[in-house]
Amino acid sequence: MRNSETAISIKGLTKFYGKFRALNNVAFEVKRGDFFAFLGPNGAGKTTTINVLTGLSNYQSGKVNIFGYDTSSEYLLSRRLIGLCAQEFNFDPFLTIHQLLVYQAGYFGIPPKKATRNAEALLERFQLIEKRHVKHRALSGGMKKRLLLCRALIHDPEILILDEPTAGCDLELKFLIWDYLTQLNKEGKTIFLTTHYMEEAEKLCKTIGIINQGHIVRIGEKKNILQDKSLETVFLEVTGPE
Ligand SMILES: Nc1ncnc2c1ncn2[C@@H]1O[C@H](COP(=O)(O)OP(=O)(O)OP(=O)(O)O)[C@@H](O)[C@H]1O
Ligand SMILES: [Mg+2]
Repeated sequence: MRNSETAISIKGLTKFYGKFRALNNVAFEVKRGDFFAFLGPNGAGKTTTINVLTGLSNYQSGKVNIFGYDTSSEYLLSRRLIGLCAQEFNFDPFLTIHQLLVYQAGYFGIPPKKATRNAEALLERFQLIEKRHVKHRALSGGMKKRLLLCRALIHDPEILILDEPTAGCDLELKFLIWDYLTQLNKEGKTIFLTTHYMEEAEKLCKTIGIINQGHIVRIGEKKNILQDKSLETVFLEVTGPE
């Protein structure tokens, strides 16, 4: 790693889809070891930011680094430091879940024997080992979420980027994923997580960034963000004249 202390550095990032400006001069940093929550409503630009970080999207201006490596000119160096848990399930339908993890490891240059060991350890850890010979279609929604985590971790990345990992999960699975993520952060992984839920950010994170309509609205330590009265919304229900 060229810069071992700053996991993510984004400066002046602007991204257009055609004429639509999805990200407008976005800038922030995430320190190594942080648990960073990226909050924002639907369409705010969270997934677009993740796509830029992981080299899936191009952009018109700005500088984006992962541990000091430029995500576009040094794509391979930056991408291998990232484990990505995408917003949607995007598994190869023809592979068993065990094969799927071994193939994924192959993309990162991990030889088959080590890939098999890693895959089995992860399937064990995320309680999927008994399903290792089935295809992902035979998994429940919650199991697929856990498989996404296994796939993200297969090459032992420095930073885990998760796009709404608990969306659509029941309470039990949500708490299980929260426990896994807390544990992984304690083991030293930097975690970048997008969510709509302040509760999730409050429970898990050390730092919070808020994005709306492609602009960073707030960024800072969790306790400072939570005390910011300007972010509170008051709902009034008017029942009409007596
Ligand atoms: N491939 C694309 N082509 C055109 N516009 C896009 C594309 N992807 C995203 N957008 C637009 O960019 C904006 C930001 O989308 P993005 O997916 O980043 O939002 P998000 O914050 O992840 O929202 P959600 O919480 O719903 O997942 C939206 O207005 C969306 O319609
Ligand atoms: Mg999204």
